[in-house]
Amino acid sequence: MFTDNKIPVVDIKNLSFRYGNQYVLEDVSMRLAPGAFLGLVGPNGSGKSTLLKSLLGLQQPQKGEIRLFGEKVEKYKGWDRIGYVSQKANSFNAGFPATVFEVVSMGLFGKKGLFRFLNRKDKQKVREAIEWVGMTPYEKRNIGELSGGQQQRVFIARALVSDPELLILDEPTVGVDAKSVQNFYTMLEGLNKEHGLTLLLVTHDVGAMTRHVTDVACLNKFLHFHGSSKEFEANQDLSAFYGHDVHLLTHEHGGHGS
Ligand SMILES: Nc1ncnc2c1ncn2[C@@H]1O[C@H](COP(=O)(O)OP(=O)(O)OP(=O)(O)O)[C@@H](O)[C@H]1O
Ligand SMILES: [Mg+2]
Repeated sequence: MFTDNKIPVVDIKNLSFRYGNQYVLEDVSMRLAPGAFLGLVGPNGSGKSTLLKSLLGLQQPQKGEIRLFGEKVEKYKGWDRIGYVSQKANSFNAGFPATVFEVVSMGLFGKKGLFRFLNRKDKQKVREAIEWVGMTPYEKRNIGELSGGQQQRVFIARALVSDPELLILDEPTVGVDAKSVQNFYTMLEGLNKEHGLTLLLVTHDVGAMTRHVTDVACLNKFLHFHGSSKEFEANQDLSAFYGHDVHLLTHEHGGHGS
């Protein structure tokens, strides 16, 4: 949990956000301590992605304040300390003609400038990131030939290659089978515990996630809960509501329809 002698990685105070005149976030305050692994849950349209986009400075909230590593987001410059995998990350690569190695190297281009050659150290970093997500055997494979879950791992490696201190993932397990979801969370837990990476994970798999995260936040326009995963599990009303809801939503999200 949060200890006051450390600067929070993320510090959100009284945040409200509206599209047009419709508020989708109201008076949200939330802190993420260094080394935390936070699972952010909430039904469709509850404002989760809006919250992430606001804290990444991609859109300007109408009220409240957001600080990243102690600095206001409007003035924040240390973006290489933050990795982000968006909710739609896996729609980008249908037939994309690049190998796993190449896709992961793209994570370095922010620092190196596009079309610069990778030096030996860069290549080493790329290999390391691929290894962290357990994709070394697939390094030379074309990204389009991988399963959805494997592709997700590659996108995470791409976000990890620049050595971020905070990794933000928006529903990375949509369309991933139950066993792979478990492996995936175990991998994230390893990055959190062994590499000290702070993680903010938006997910609908409440059951699978709770065993691996340190903290849980429940959002539904307002922040209904923010505490340790143990407190969350102990609060049966809360875990029933968000857990149940989430189950239905996962099905909906799985893309069996349209
Ligand atoms: N660009 C936009 N313009 C107008 N309304 C938007 C826009 N983006 C999102 N919204 C609305 O804001 C609300 C919150 O959306 P958001 O994407 O943050 O939800 P979410 O919690 O991430 O949902 P999901 O679980 O489906 O990803 C929704 O009602 C959505 O329709
Ligand atoms: Mg979303």
